[in-house]
Amino acid sequence: MDMADFERWVFREFKIDLSAYKSKQLHRRIESLMKRSKVDSIEAYIDLLKRDPAQQQKFLDFITINVTEFFRNPSVFEDFRKKVEDYISKGNRQLKVWSAACSIGSEPYSIAMMLDDILRGKDYWILATDIDSTILERAKLGEYSEPEVKNVSSEYKAKYFTRTGDVFSIKPELKKRVIFKKHDLIRDEYEMNFDIIVCRNVVIYFKQETKDELYRKFSKSLKKGGLLFVGSTESMYNYREYGFEKASTFIYRKL
Ligand SMILES: C[S@@+](CC[C@H](N)C(=O)[O-])C[C@H]1O[C@@H](n2cnc3c(N)ncnc32)[C@H](O)[C@@H]1O
Repeated sequence: MDMADFERWVFREFKIDLSAYKSKQLHRRIESLMKRSKVDSIEAYIDLLKRDPAQQQKFLDFITINVTEFFRNPSVFEDFRKKVEDYISKGNRQLKVWSAACSIGSEPYSIAMMLDDILRGKDYWILATDIDSTILERAKLGEYSEPEVKNVSSEYKAKYFTRTGDVFSIKPELKKRVIFKKHDLIRDEYEMNFDIIVCRNVVIYFKQETKDELYRKFSKSLKKGGLLFVGSTESMYNYREYGFEKASTFIYRKL
């Protein structure tokens, strides 16, 4: 058995299409995980995953890499705010936003705080999706430790969180703006008519063909003039092919 067999098994078992991910990087990660789990063949690893749910979860967490932060890359987030304000000033007042690959929720809640601040309670809602159902449960809970909220200003902490001991909980008024849903960017249908799509720090793990496909679908899912915000290592060089113009380094506008 080789990695290709393993990928087929993972697809049958978990419905995750590993062939869409950059293979060298992915295989290195799987091999190092196997080493840590003290197995030395693909067969033995499949065996272990079949009988041990804790190992299964470890594998899925490892594959999906869910590192995240509130207001990740703050200066880029500031720029995002300006572009959103421009978009709103053109008369777009009811915003439908998608935070794709949202991990534990820091990204969609950051967007919610920003929009609440700009729109002062007017209409907006955020669809927040991820492939990993375990982290989505955490995201729905909306509870974070002090180090996890380090990028949140004290003004926003006071306004949008309640603090109990070391736990910072997102207030219900903000929470109700975010709808969490399981969604696989590779295999699932995309909703339409978004004003803004934020998809950061996930396409970096995908092969070029997969990225092309994703950006084409994001473009289709956006309204004319809508914004796509990507990660700080993910700027697109061929954005025109997908029907975008550049709004700034990591933000694209649908033509
Ligand atoms: C590094 S985190 C990025 C979180 C957040 N967007 C940010 O920039 O801080 C990557 C996320 O992508 C998710 N992911 C990986 N493959 C995915 C897929 N095929 N579809 C949807 N989400 C996926 C992972 O579960 C993980 O939560």
